[in-house]
Amino acid sequence: MRKRINHRGAVGKSVLKTPKVAPKRATETTTVGDEAFSRNDEGLMCERVPLSVIARETGTPAYVYSAGAIRDQYAHLRDAMKSVDARLHYSVKANSSMAILSLLRELGAGLDIVSGGELYRALKAGYTGRDIVFSGVGKTEREMEDALRAQVLLVNVESEQELHVLDAVAKRLGVKAPVALRVNPEVLVDTPHPYTRTGEKGMKFGIPFDEALSVAKASATLPNIDLIGLDMHVGSQISQFAPYEVGLQRLLHLRREIERETKARLEWLDIGGGLAVTYDAERSVDVRHFGEVVKALVSGSGLKIILEPGRYLVGNAGVLLTRVLYRKRSGGKEFIITDAGMTDLLRPSHYNAFHRIDAVKPTGRTTVADVVGPICETGDFLALDRQIDDAQPGDLLAVQSTGAYGFVMSSNYNSRPRAPEVLVDADRFAVITRRESYDDLVRNEIETPEWRSR
Ligand SMILES: Cc1ncc(COP(=O)(O)O)c(C=O)c1O
Repeated sequence: MRKRINHRGAVGKSVLKTPKVAPKRATETTTVGDEAFSRNDEGLMCERVPLSVIARETGTPAYVYSAGAIRDQYAHLRDAMKSVDARLHYSVKANSSMAILSLLRELGAGLDIVSGGELYRALKAGYTGRDIVFSGVGKTEREMEDALRAQVLLVNVESEQELHVLDAVAKRLGVKAPVALRVNPEVLVDTPHPYTRTGEKGMKFGIPFDEALSVAKASATLPNIDLIGLDMHVGSQISQFAPYEVGLQRLLHLRREIERETKARLEWLDIGGGLAVTYDAERSVDVRHFGEVVKALVSGSGLKIILEPGRYLVGNAGVLLTRVLYRKRSGGKEFIITDAGMTDLLRPSHYNAFHRIDAVKPTGRTTVADVVGPICETGDFLALDRQIDDAQPGDLLAVQSTGAYGFVMSSNYNSRPRAPEVLVDADRFAVITRRESYDDLVRNEIETPEWRSR
């Protein structure tokens, strides 16, 4: 039995609800998000809650996450890494909802953050500095100061200039900054879109590999820097382990050079995130094999390993629920116009990403259509030329595998309030982020600057 967690109070006035229909046994399981999303005669379910019930209670569009799916993914990865001295630091950027952070904290996760805002969330969700590694290519002095005050485990430094600024900030605070150098391993990375590659030569992330030793030597001259680790992140949605293997070998070699040529003794090797999830019919990543690959390379090194998984933990745990507003034909093409668009889910238009779209209650007929949102942009689509249920106005669709880089990338463009987020746990669900109101849209705005009224 899964332990139930109390989400009450996780975010403001979070409400726990029980569906008004008796849960029925699942009869068919969808391939994406496996056990979390299944079908019975109530239509598509999240765990034991019909998505139609959530849509009725919260309206659409709405993000819906399965707590069970997140727990399962966490357990798979933790088990896969158990023969390695490894810590899982969930990458907050994938989905930073307080209730998700709190759920992962209960499971024992640490965090990988990339901004002062994420640090704020992390501390508010009950994490301590020791649970946190701070990544990011452009940290400000204020962010560094906040991170050092919080006593984070590691600041992953990405350039020599950043190292000097961090040294000065640490001096001001009278502390030593615990540093891992983020090195660009300069490996070939195969991801579905170039924007999700980070560890190739010439990218903005990390210290160029052949400069890393000299930056390490520079760090030895800075009295407020304690160089204790190395870090890499090869990219995102990676299903082949070769980039990790090659990157790890390069970092282990670099570690030996650094320890030979400086007094630094490295304890940590942060190998980043990037493990893929299934968006369509792909085979899921074999994390046990991943664990073996890492173990073969690092065992005997005495290094403690950090993993920064984001998508892997939450990607398949979420759907975006949307309602069909209209159907139309234009230029011989069929369009399904939904109430969710690129402001709710940016990935299709930004990364040309594929997300399966399933009818909550299928009509039994299919069509080929572009699924588009209401935003005034031609690039506003959820799917193009897609064989899909012949959904009609009023019907509900679930855009699958949107637990990662979904809500967090949403915007208010076209003055659209952001969708709510809902967490399901077995037969209960709670709104964990309220839908924004029109008032929220203008809350921080000043209609008439003081000098204009004079
Ligand atoms: C430094 C760093 N770590 C971890 C991640 C998480 O990646 P993923 O969600 O693919 O696991 C990212 C994503 O961009 C990242 O930039």
